[in-house]
Amino acid sequence: MVELSNLEFNLLQGYLRNISGIDVPEEKRYLFQTRLSEFLEEENCRSFSELYCLLTKGERGLQRRLIQAMTNHESCFFRDGHPFENLVRRLLPEAAARRNGQSQVPFPIRILSAGCASGQEPYSIAMCVRDWLEGQPGLRADQVVIHAIDVSQRILARAAQGRYTDQEVGKFINDRQRKRYFVRKGDHWEVCEQIRRCIGFSEMNLSEPFGYIGKFDVIFCRNVIIYFNLEQRQKIVNSFLGLLHRGGALVLGASESLYAVSNAFTAVHDGPTMYYVPTAGEPAGSG
Ligand SMILES: C[S@@+](CC[C@H](N)C(=O)[O-])C[C@H]1O[C@@H](n2cnc3c(N)ncnc32)[C@H](O)[C@@H]1O
Repeated sequence: MVELSNLEFNLLQGYLRNISGIDVPEEKRYLFQTRLSEFLEEENCRSFSELYCLLTKGERGLQRRLIQAMTNHESCFFRDGHPFENLVRRLLPEAAARRNGQSQVPFPIRILSAGCASGQEPYSIAMCVRDWLEGQPGLRADQVVIHAIDVSQRILARAAQGRYTDQEVGKFINDRQRKRYFVRKGDHWEVCEQIRRCIGFSEMNLSEPFGYIGKFDVIFCRNVIIYFNLEQRQKIVNSFLGLLHRGGALVLGASESLYAVSNAFTAVHDGPTMYYVPTAGEPAGSG
């Protein structure tokens, strides 16, 4: 394995942080060696310094591949369970209620899955939405949309395919969901068209300015900011504030919190679930 000097580690660590927000701590420096060895070979680099020089020439394709190699894409359907129960029990009814009365929030109800990896999170959300819509005779399927983003083009392409192995579907999807929302294709399972139709996938780097992507009722950003340093977390969470409708919710992963990150959100506890809403007076979206 190619040696990684302290200087090379510092250079690559800073470079990756700048382009993606991902922070590889000292104790995980081995990740550069284990995950980038193929990369070195493919680019004919004999050392990490050579790779660093190539990267700093600013070629987008190379930067992308670095981010892809250094990100963790672990995911599963209905990860942790309770955030999805909370979505159906509380967050979707609240989003529907925002469309009534005086608040004038327009349809559709919009949900963002930020850092969607191979797609299990947005597809789980879409299944919850479909189930919930059955009890809402006044609402049509196209009145709820899901936007799924990730920095990795490769993982997004996989997500958009919606194909999963027996193991990936296995214990995470019950019989009813499998019959209803999956189609057997050869040796794998494919998410059915009805569910795929609810989701738009796009490449987006949370560490770069978001541009206009509209307002959301719920932002799922689970098991993503855990890889960022404090400054990046603050920047991203602050951007989320501007993306939420008033009363909208930010859902983080089980081991993530906004403690010491932001005062602009208040934690709401609902059984085993915790999510965040903009603190009263904070300038969340006007609608
Ligand atoms: C561990 S997965 C989490 C997947 C899913 N949210 C879940 O909880 O199961 C983290 C995902 O965040 C994405 N990610 C990391 N940095 C990102 C960034 N700067 N912008 C957008 N996505 C990012 C990674 O590519 C990866 O797919």
